[in-house]
Amino acid sequence: MALSNINTTISKAGVTRLSLFEYRNYESLRLNVGLNPIIITGENGSGKTNILEAISFLTPGRGLRGSKLADIRRLQADEDSNWAVAATISKGDEQFEIGTGIERIVREDYDASRSYDKRIVKIDGNKVSSQLELGRYLSAIWLTPQMDRLFRGGPQPRRSFLDRLVYDFDMEHAKRTAQFEHLYKEWYQLLKQGQGDNLWLSSLEEQMAASGVAIAAARLEQVAKLNRFIEKEPDDVFPNVRLELDGTIERMIEEKPAIEVEETYRNLLKSQRRSLFYGETVDGVNRTDFKVFYKDKKMPAELCSTGEQKSLLIGVILAQTKCQIADTGCNPVLLLDEVVSHLDEIKREALLNKIQALNLQAWITSTDAELFSPLKGKAEFLALHDGILSQK
Ligand SMILES: Nc1ncnc2c1ncn2[C@@H]1O[C@H](COP(=O)(O)OP(=O)(O)OP(=O)(O)O)[C@@H](O)[C@H]1O
Ligand SMILES: [Mg+2]
Repeated sequence: MALSNINTTISKAGVTRLSLFEYRNYESLRLNVGLNPIIITGENGSGKTNILEAISFLTPGRGLRGSKLADIRRLQADEDSNWAVAATISKGDEQFEIGTGIERIVREDYDASRSYDKRIVKIDGNKVSSQLELGRYLSAIWLTPQMDRLFRGGPQPRRSFLDRLVYDFDMEHAKRTAQFEHLYKEWYQLLKQGQGDNLWLSSLEEQMAASGVAIAAARLEQVAKLNRFIEKEPDDVFPNVRLELDGTIERMIEEKPAIEVEETYRNLLKSQRRSLFYGETVDGVNRTDFKVFYKDKKMPAELCSTGEQKSLLIGVILAQTKCQIADTGCNPVLLLDEVVSHLDEIKREALLNKIQALNLQAWITSTDAELFSPLKGKAEFLALHDGILSQK
């Protein structure tokens, strides 16, 4: 479907109120915005990325920095206060109040009391049992300066990047990956400690194989979906990408029925018990790599220039966004941290035009407000100085 045909039918979604409490450099911050692009400018260290990170915590996962929860609490906060983010999400005609933060749990044992911090999530004032519930209300796609190294480093961040793209379409994927990780940890610990009887280990391997095959199938589907979309609606400015998966289980799924792959995966895990004991890596969906190619140049992303790599990432994100709008009728919120650095003038202007044409909420940070002058009157401008915000 051409994008021009779908804009009229989408439910525009985004954050219209954001409140932060004891969140990194903010003792408290409250802001109300519309659903158009929001440009946040300010000097280094003024708190731009922290706002984007806080929004990313309104979706499942560990936020756009992948930080430890304890690092987020404002260092100067009172000992008994903890951080929280609350927001109003507008989606079509509906509004939802969602929030997340940390709660200190105190457990009384017979001889001592122990306390630990736990992430909590509230929807319309009610605590929900899983942070995965957030995915029903808000979907966000982010691009950060740390991701400039996405193609050059090890596969783990690329895999997480892909998994996030998958669960924007398929919420179950977040559950599957969390479940797989949990099972893997248990299996790993049992084997490392030399504990665990054969029956218990086999039961874990059976569950890991089942969720692993579902994870691999969902990743393959997403990669195929995006490749099809890019084939049909190539971008006119940003380089078009070709996506591939490099993983044992993903390869098997393309060759044999899922039920057979599950059995092979189970046997593979069983045969690797020994390798794990000797500290070798275990093969499976936890090792899959997500490969991106510059399609026209037939060039692997890791061999492209810095600016090209940034453009390739933007290419993936634009394709995902358009595909998501076409498939679900609802837009993701874009969190674009310092996105214009490394882009030449043509690409910078093209990106801003495309964001406007997509008619969605994008939060864009920069140290230089001037770069965004083409958006005057069409975007909201927030200027930050040392954690203090002025809305222009
Ligand atoms: N837990 C914390 N408590 C207090 N301050 C923190 C905490 N974590 C980070 N900060 C501070 O928050 C400030 C703003 O950080 P942020 O990353 O948002 O800046 P920025 O505006 O994006 O800067 P840049 O332009 O360099 O990217 C920094 O000075 C940082 O040291
Ligand atoms: Mg920053």
